[in-house]
Amino acid sequence: MKRPDWGAKIVCLDIGADAVEAVVGEIATAGGVAMSSVADVRNIDDLRAAVAAAVARFGRIDVLVNNAGTMPLAFLSDHAEALQAWNDCIDINFKGVINGTVAVYDQMISQGSGQIVNISSIYGNHPVVGSSVHGATKAAVNYFSNSVRHEPREDQGQRDQAGRSTRNRPDNPGCRTASRIAVLGGARAEHSTMREAAGPASTSPRPRP
Ligand SMILES: NC(=O)c1ccc[n+]([C@@H]2O[C@H](COP(=O)([O-])OP(=O)(O)OC[C@H]3O[C@@H](n4cnc5c(N)ncnc54)[C@H](O)[C@@H]3O)[C@@H](O)[C@H]2O)c1
Repeated sequence: MKRPDWGAKIVCLDIGADAVEAVVGEIATAGGVAMSSVADVRNIDDLRAAVAAAVARFGRIDVLVNNAGTMPLAFLSDHAEALQAWNDCIDINFKGVINGTVAVYDQMISQGSGQIVNISSIYGNHPVVGSSVHGATKAAVNYFSNSVRHEPREDQGQRDQAGRSTRNRPDNPGCRTASRIAVLGGARAEHSTMREAAGPASTSPRPRP
């Protein structure tokens, strides 16, 4: 958005139609190219449709940013009030990242490259009072990101008749190729960015009220 001359073609996806249209409008005003996609990251069909629309419009997907997230901080003693928000948080923060990754995976493998950026949080790095569920979703995102970072490197796009990857299966042990999908785990990126911004004396986060 800041550098439309870089030529990025952007799909803005959000559950909120008004907000996403507003961002697309800002990008267009700045001279960029963008399209909107209203979708719920909890719904894999929504994301598959968004990927299909993006590929139909732009031909490929180079970068996916799994950004949607909620942060329902609450003490465990307030579980009665917090439970629904915690369940939504799990579905959006973690399952949403899985859904996004699944939705673009075959496309990125077939085009031979792709970058997935998962937005995590320093709350996923260690326990913080009031963030037990939110932090757990971000720790799960970290774990998932590190797994995805390694796995596609071995996926040569070879499939058996059922369409399953043949990588690392007994009949095709340990095939290795250069990285096909690179995943930037959000926690690492954010951590280093925050360290640079905060300097060596950064403090532990505190739950929002
Ligand atoms: N703000 C912070 O200080 C902070 C710190 C660490 C990590 N993060 C992470 O950064 C990401 C963005 O946070 P933010 O502060 O910009 O939040 P935000 O609330 O401003 O933006 C989140 C966006 O996600 C969208 N969204 C929510 N549920 C959705 C769903 N089911 N499907 C599709 N879209 C949905 C919302 O409409 C909203 O536009 C989150 O993953 C968050 O955990 C934020």
